[in-house]
Amino acid sequence: MLTLIAVVSSAGGAGRSTVTAHLAAQLAYASHPVVVLELDAQNSIGSVLGLREACGKGVLSPGVAPDCWHSVLCDTPAGVPLLPAGRTDPTTLAALVQWLQQDTGGLRRQLDALGLAPGTRVLIDTQRLPDMAAQAAVAAADLILGIVPVTTTGYVTQPDLMAACAGRVQMVPNLAAANSSFNNDLLHLMQARAGEAVVPLRIHRDEAISTMAANGKTLANAGFGSQAALDFARLAAWLMRATTPDEVLDRSGRGEK
Ligand SMILES: Nc1ncnc2c1ncn2[C@@H]1O[C@H](COP(=O)(O)OP(=O)(O)OP(=O)(O)O)[C@@H](O)[C@H]1O
Ligand SMILES: [Mg+2]
Repeated sequence: MLTLIAVVSSAGGAGRSTVTAHLAAQLAYASHPVVVLELDAQNSIGSVLGLREACGKGVLSPGVAPDCWHSVLCDTPAGVPLLPAGRTDPTTLAALVQWLQQDTGGLRRQLDALGLAPGTRVLIDTQRLPDMAAQAAVAAADLILGIVPVTTTGYVTQPDLMAACAGRVQMVPNLAAANSSFNNDLLHLMQARAGEAVVPLRIHRDEAISTMAANGKTLANAGFGSQAALDFARLAAWLMRATTPDEVLDRSGRGEK
């Protein structure tokens, strides 16, 4: 059984692709099976996973039907298998969105057909909400990670995010600046508004993220000692607990969720 995780936001540039890529790399580094699916026509997450060139063919490309997704699954230097968006056009994009809307079980069925290892976490990078493909990922997901930048825009758009995910979203604060009292106040306001729907950790604003992007590396493989590497290790541990059934946790003796 696959676990589908939609990574969404209502704010642009919130860090969806960054969180998707580094979280996936951290899971792969810890030997947990993971795949990234890119449902964003920007076709750029491959670069965060270490690919030097944009993928030509992907799940949004003309001529790649959903039952052919195995043909575009590729390895990345981060050790994370990727179903890239690929180059697309408006007609192909519209057809995919129509399929996602009409065949509500289709996304999971096509991912199941890839024959991935049981327990694989499929992290789905999306375009900013409101977006039909992102909405379909939200509907299909077992867990929704909402990336909320700790900025004024993040605070203002937080209610839209909660509404778009019908109360099912788990919010990950990103771009947190620990040494700014304004930033800390914003985070507290977000936590006060959403309570336990805010994941009890934060991803700090950290230059290591842009350094890694420039070098085609990930924090899991090359960012040892950075604040962001620590943040993503914590987020990966939280995600594993949040997506592992209680009975498995009990049997392994790792305690309660
Ligand atoms: N915690 C962070 N610390 C430093 N830089 C960050 C952090 N998170 C994201 N960034 C940077 O912010 C920019 C936007 O991030 P990203 O592309 O992941 O956002 P997105 O939500 O996917 O945006 P888009 O709407 O373009 O898809 C990138 O340059 C990324 O490197
Ligand atoms: Mg993105």
